[in-house]
Amino acid sequence: MQFDKIHNRIGTNSEKWDSVDTLYGLSPDKAIPMWVADMDFQAPESVTNIIRDMAERGIYGYAREDDNYRQAICGWMERRHKWKVQPNSLFSVHGIVNAIAIAIQAYTKPRDSIIIFSPVYHAISRVVKASGRRLIESPLVKGPTGKYTIDLEATSNRLDGNETMLILCSPHNPGGRVWRQEELEQVALFAERHNLMIISDEIHHDLVYSDFTHIPFEKAVPSAQPFLVTLTSTTKTFNIAGMHTGNVIISDEKLRAKFKKVLLELAISPSSFGIEMTTAAYNGGEEWLERLLVYLNQNKTMFDSTINKIKGLESMPLEATYLCWVDYRALNMSLSDYKKKIESETQIAASYGETFGMGGDGHLRFNIAMPKKILDSALNRLKNAFLNV
Ligand SMILES: Cc1ncc(COP(=O)(O)O)c(C=O)c1O
Repeated sequence: MQFDKIHNRIGTNSEKWDSVDTLYGLSPDKAIPMWVADMDFQAPESVTNIIRDMAERGIYGYAREDDNYRQAICGWMERRHKWKVQPNSLFSVHGIVNAIAIAIQAYTKPRDSIIIFSPVYHAISRVVKASGRRLIESPLVKGPTGKYTIDLEATSNRLDGNETMLILCSPHNPGGRVWRQEELEQVALFAERHNLMIISDEIHHDLVYSDFTHIPFEKAVPSAQPFLVTLTSTTKTFNIAGMHTGNVIISDEKLRAKFKKVLLELAISPSSFGIEMTTAAYNGGEEWLERLLVYLNQNKTMFDSTINKIKGLESMPLEATYLCWVDYRALNMSLSDYKKKIESETQIAASYGETFGMGGDGHLRFNIAMPKKILDSALNRLKNAFLNV
């Protein structure tokens, strides 16, 4: 099985592997990094082949969002997500966080407020704050199934009158929720009522487990088009995040013009590698993705069955993503105690819940996209360390 193959990434300038000493104080040859969201798997062959083709041509000039690129995205959205995207509604940018930063410039003013549902992927709040906009964090609520739900009444109570945008992470990171049709409708209604732009970050759209279906926001609520920007990417799906490319889908012409204006102002144009890799991944990576989803599902089961047996730990049941979200509040252990007792003993680098904003404390996020042999070793280390607390 191709995903069982162990790749030595140490010394390849991998942020995940080569930063464990500076970021976590762990020893690179003993550590198991389970933090940043990239996978220890090789990308599909179609992607590697296109890089090889480009290297053989040896000319790396400028590129456009050509018909092949547009068709690859439209075809993928239609096949995988039953969503009809118009080819002229697409832009290629340098990643999803880049797209969020552009959208903030395009659709809000300094000192406007932007709503997010916390805990959420930390770079979102980082770009909001860096842009001089105010952040409104609306806490997600753990429902009876142990999964997150959105509490729009709580959101209403946190509004300050300056809000102009809402950024939704769909599927959600961390916690792995796949928002249902009714939930998306409620968010759309809320946005309409408060005159908010919706930025739907759908980067994890393909990493969804078989009992669940991701519904693109625009498909769920077509009437949201005049206030909706959708962000998708091949980078998480096919493990090419280092390429820093992303696809922006804007169906509304007026919104598109505003986005384009900021692209011009900031001189952002597509990367030839981003265009080629995206096209190759969507055209040739589907079978690879099907196999990946089976493998990740097995890893998820393995992780949850070990972690949930440890008293005081609770892993949120994932509907999507390879990012397991573990609640350790029942242990009454501070983060510094966790670092001293568990992290230093296990040499496992996980993401700290605090970095995901409100409601993240007392949680850890573990990236399980790795060969089973390594995951097994990580789980043994965690089991021994937590059982000895
Ligand atoms: C929800 C979400 N959005 C965006 C990103 C990063 O996207 P990019 O690397 O394209 O900026 C991540 C990375 O983990 C993510 O989880």
